[in-house]
Amino acid sequence: MNEALLVTAEISQASAATPVLSVVVPTFNERENVRKLYGKLQVALKGIAWEVVYVDDNSPDTTWEVVRELAQQDGRVRCIRRIGRRGLSGACIEGILASCAPYVAVMDADLQHDETQLPKMLSLLQSGAAELVIGSRYIEGGSADSFNKHRASASALATEVAKRALGVEVADPMSGFFMIRRDRFEQLAPKLSTQGFKILLDVIATARGELKTVEVPYTFGSRLHGESKLDSMVALDFLGLVLAKLTNDVVSLRFLLFAMVGGTGLFVHLGTLFIGLNVLDLPFAEAQGLGAFIAMTTNFILNNFLTYRDQRLKGFAILGGLFAFYLVCSVGLFANVGVAFSVYDQEPIWWLAGAAGALMGVVWNYAMSGLFVWRKR
Ligand code: GDD
Ligand code: MN
Repeated sequence: MNEALLVTAEISQASAATPVLSVVVPTFNERENVRKLYGKLQVALKGIAWEVVYVDDNSPDTTWEVVRELAQQDGRVRCIRRIGRRGLSGACIEGILASCAPYVAVMDADLQHDETQLPKMLSLLQSGAAELVIGSRYIEGGSADSFNKHRASASALATEVAKRALGVEVADPMSGFFMIRRDRFEQLAPKLSTQGFKILLDVIATARGELKTVEVPYTFGSRLHGESKLDSMVALDFLGLVLAKLTNDVVSLRFLLFAMVGGTGLFVHLGTLFIGLNVLDLPFAEAQGLGAFIAMTTNFILNNFLTYRDQRLKGFAILGGLFAFYLVCSVGLFANVGVAFSVYDQEPIWWLAGAAGALMGVVWNYAMSGLFVWRKR
């Protein structure tokens, strides 16, 4: 055989094992579930060339160790271990982009999603009947009985808001279980938010009705081991995503959170000023300085907790971050006053000048905090 033929033969041999379906599974503290899901995938996907990519955010329970062990036994299993980052959406995006099959599914590790739907979802994509297939709890035949009352009504409310605000026409845009054509996903990927939980909603909203979508019903099961990582912060994430999409991504989710935190800072400032003047009997300048100081501090804490929780500063880094934040905000104050002055100079309308200054301040603080306080590592 000549060399060219040999190469072709090798390639065709290799392509027999090339996956048609990549399953991306985000994990955080899912040690007990990884092997179980793998076993279920093996059964459900018999006869299909598949791979599974677990994306683990450096789980304290060392989930990634279990995945590595599996990967050594089965080449179809891969592990992405992310350090210094958190977030479901970001993990899914990274997993999808690190895989190669023409079709990609996203599903949870805790066996709440029904893997036996995968072949059906795949054939819908392969036949061209759909570009996106959603595992839906809210169409005929699907259910989310494992939800408690509180969670069920929260989920229903969020779904309604998403539908109305963003014009989404899907029954279950909050589902964490879906399959999509790779080429379509790669087109959308640069516009998706890596923050938050709602990757599917983001995909749908970003595609603006351009994705041929089909929903298949499934029953949202009970979590097998471990606990849910969704907390009350998820509601804020959700609102931020809706607002970001409403403004056509001009305003990012993070900026919105940062500005909201800034808004709370105003109240803290005024409250402290009041106490400084009336309770502590401080002269005005000192009370005002104290107000600013306390407000900067609470803003920092809230931003570290909320706005930048995916890259939260911990331990000693908190102290360094806090001082950097004081510095950034102090310079921001000059920018604020400077802009307000020059606007007032041209157009002596106090509220317009004040608002322009405040906007300048928050934009400055946001941009500089991203560079110097919560730097991407
Ligand atoms: N890598 C990574 N990083 N994975 C995460 C993170 C994270 O920060 N947070 C959660 N996960 C993983 C979990 O390990 C699990 O495999 C999956 O993401 C879903 O997380 P759960 O904590 O089990 O979420 P849930 O069951 O409350 O919510 C699920 O159902 C919702 C529908 O009501 C998720 O699928 C949501 O996306 C979905 O909206
Ligand atoms: Mn779950």
